[in-house]
Amino acid sequence: MTEAIATPQLFTGDRVVENAVLAWEGGLVSYAGPAAGFRGDAEPVPGGVVPGFVDCHTHLPFFGWRADEFEARLTGRSYRDVHGEGGGIARSARMLAAASDDEVLEFCRPLAAEMLTHGTTALELKTGYGLSVEAELRQARLARRLASEIEQTCTVTLLACHAVPEGMERPDWVEAVCGELIPAAAAEGLADAVDVYVEDIAFTIDDLEAVAAAAGSRGLPLRVHADQLGPSGAAEAACRLGAHSADHLNHVSAEGVRTLGASPTIAVLLPASTFMLRADPPPARALIEAGASIALATDFNPGTSPVLSMPEAIAIACSLYRLEPIEALRAATATAARVLGLDGRLGTLESGKRADFVILDSTDPAFIPYRPGHNPLRTVHLNGRQVA
Ligand code: NIG
Ligand code: FE
Repeated sequence: MTEAIATPQLFTGDRVVENAVLAWEGGLVSYAGPAAGFRGDAEPVPGGVVPGFVDCHTHLPFFGWRADEFEARLTGRSYRDVHGEGGGIARSARMLAAASDDEVLEFCRPLAAEMLTHGTTALELKTGYGLSVEAELRQARLARRLASEIEQTCTVTLLACHAVPEGMERPDWVEAVCGELIPAAAAEGLADAVDVYVEDIAFTIDDLEAVAAAAGSRGLPLRVHADQLGPSGAAEAACRLGAHSADHLNHVSAEGVRTLGASPTIAVLLPASTFMLRADPPPARALIEAGASIALATDFNPGTSPVLSMPEAIAIACSLYRLEPIEALRAATATAARVLGLDGRLGTLESGKRADFVILDSTDPAFIPYRPGHNPLRTVHLNGRQVA
């Protein structure tokens, strides 16, 4: 049976259609276009309609918060200081290790539900708080379990090279990741992609190359935390290695901008972590003008971005990075789906894609960034079915 709604403004993930109809059958979009071109009945809805948001960079599953580190950063400590003092990623790893599987899932389920009420219908889950071969495999299994229990479509990324495990040397950990962890995770079907945090407090370009080779030999796409705290040439390396994305980019060089502009590697911008760290914004307009594809995500994690709302990330991207509302919405839906390799199934409202969409409480999608702090959604639909 075909169901259909008529809306004053439909954003398809690519363009805005005024006076539009969205129709679906069996959970998949069967029509998305001008009302004049639709034959059949459509129920009028008062709000604009946009694709469900695809949060293509999160650090779920994690366990516990680090609000005191946020306060410490407000009184003069830097993210690097907190990291060096045993806080940061290592602290989240200790909290995860101390929690049972059930405790972790009980912590994460309501967060995923809250993401759904903010319109996130697909998301990335990542490891990176395990920091031993066994603990990373455990976190990846927890991610797969979480994915099976929540409503949204999820992918899992292995970010074993997030921090050097306490008591270990960096080269030894990279060797374990490449020689043991990636093969084990691939054999168990636990990962859809592999990520590396390239930074002076984390991993080098040589480490990235080693991980890229190990991931590539298992057919796993590469992603890179690139140039977040300082410039390292990680964006250029990500492009050279054929990574799906280079993420953060607050300190990307002019050469990195040019390279991303000429490469299929997607620039994933994470404005909520920029906001929370009071960091320099990345050169978003220069990236767009160079020809780079831009995606937006929350970077949801207990350290740099305890923000799970895509509308909030979109609002910050517009005000701080000066994205135009439709650029930001495209980055948060269609392009974000490409980052996760889900674009064949979702991310845009066009025939054959999943009917994952959001009905707004205003007619104009530009109201999403215009009212930060306000949840701009009336209802959220997965496969056409109302879920929030
Ligand atoms: O993307 N910078 C590296 N990783 C995260 C932060 C992780 C944490 O502090 O727990 C990020 O910002
Ligand atoms: Fe991140």
